Amino acid sequence: MKHSYKIIYYLLSVVFLMLLFSSCKHHEGEYHNVNDKIEAEGKHYQGVSVSSEAYIGDIKTIEVTEGEHTFLIPERKTQIKSYACTECHSKPLDKMQNKEGKKAHWDIALHHANDNAMNCVTCHNGSNMDDLKSITGNVIDFNKSYQLCSQCHNKQFEDWKGGAHGKRIGGWAPPRASMTCVNCHNPHKPHFDSRWPARYNTQKVKERE
Ligand code: HEC
Ligand code: HEC
Ligand code: HEC
Ligand code: HEC
Repeated sequence: MKHSYKIIYYLLSVVFLMLLFSSCKHHEGEYHNVNDKIEAEGKHYQGVSVSSEAYIGDIKTIEVTEGEHTFLIPERKTQIKSYACTECHSKPLDKMQNKEGKKAHWDIALHHANDNAMNCVTCHNGSNMDDLKSITGNVIDFNKSYQLCSQCHNKQFEDWKGGAHGKRIGGWAPPRASMTCVNCHNPHKPHFDSRWPARYNTQKVKERE
């Protein structure tokens, strides 16, 4: 009698231990918890990194840090036709003004803020045309012209820093590269005209008649 008790006790312990260990066994696709799953399945990806670099392609970029955000933006100076400005602007503006004939920058007309708020030298540095300047007279590099815009358009600047205003170049994988203000807005005429939707809309045609 005593002996068979022992056997049953022994068998129960074995069954219990089997249950205990079988629940720990790693069958395919089964893990104790999410962390184990990520760790096990993530091993597979080690050494393979996803990157946006391929999509940024030939665009020359510079790295900027604004607050807690560090990212890439396109370089500008090589894209500006009449740069370097000092090729002509070797003397102060008032010594360069020609009274008659075609203006040097006849193709640039300012449609931004009203004349009280802004003229050419609000943004351009009269004493060194190769740089921009802040309202308080600090030098701003042409590659960082967003610092000019941010003085008056802080809301859009804050959104842009975080990636909410403007557009990314490449994908969502790092490194982050974002278009800068002047890639989309002409600083001399920044407003976009409203447009009709590209798709033909019969209702709108009726309304316009
Ligand atoms: C090919 C020569 C040339 C180059 C290059 C040039 N400028 Fe000028 N710029 C002039 C001349 C000449 C004037 C004098 C006024 C005029 O003729 O319009 C002038 C005038 C200006 C003015 C004053 C305009 C006004 O109506 O008061 C600004 C601002 C200016 N230039 C900015 C720039 C900037 C910024 C660059 C570089 C991105 C540049 N310029 C490159 C020739 C040049
Ligand atoms: C709101 C600021 C602002 C004002 C005001 C402004 N500019 Fe500019 N300007 C810029 C910025 C920023 C750039 C560089 C844009 C870029 O990166 O393409 C620029 C570029 C230029 C260039 C080089 C353009 C080219 O493609 O070669 C000239 C010339 C120039 N500005 C002249 C002027 C003149 C003349 C005035 C006044 C009538 C003026 N700007 C007013 C911000 C300003
Ligand atoms: C000195 C202040 C000042 C600076 C610097 C400045 N802006 Fe503006 N901007 C204004 C004002 C004022 C208006 C007109 C009022 C308004 O619409 O907010 C305006 C209008 C605009 C608009 C049109 C807004 C609309 O409702 O359509 C855009 C876009 C814009 N700016 C972009 C820029 C960009 C990009 C830069 C930098 C290259 C810049 N601004 C630099 C003051 C400034
Ligand atoms: C990828 C293109 C792109 C970039 C980069 C960009 N913007 Fe814009 N922005 C737009 C478009 C498109 C609109 C027009 C929205 C509309 O008309 O409703 C706009 C609108 C604006 C306006 C008008 C007010 C509003 O929110 O509708 C301001 C001011 C402005 N942008 C400033 C800036 C400044 C400052 C920067 C850089 C820090 C910047 N933008 C960068 C595309 C861009």
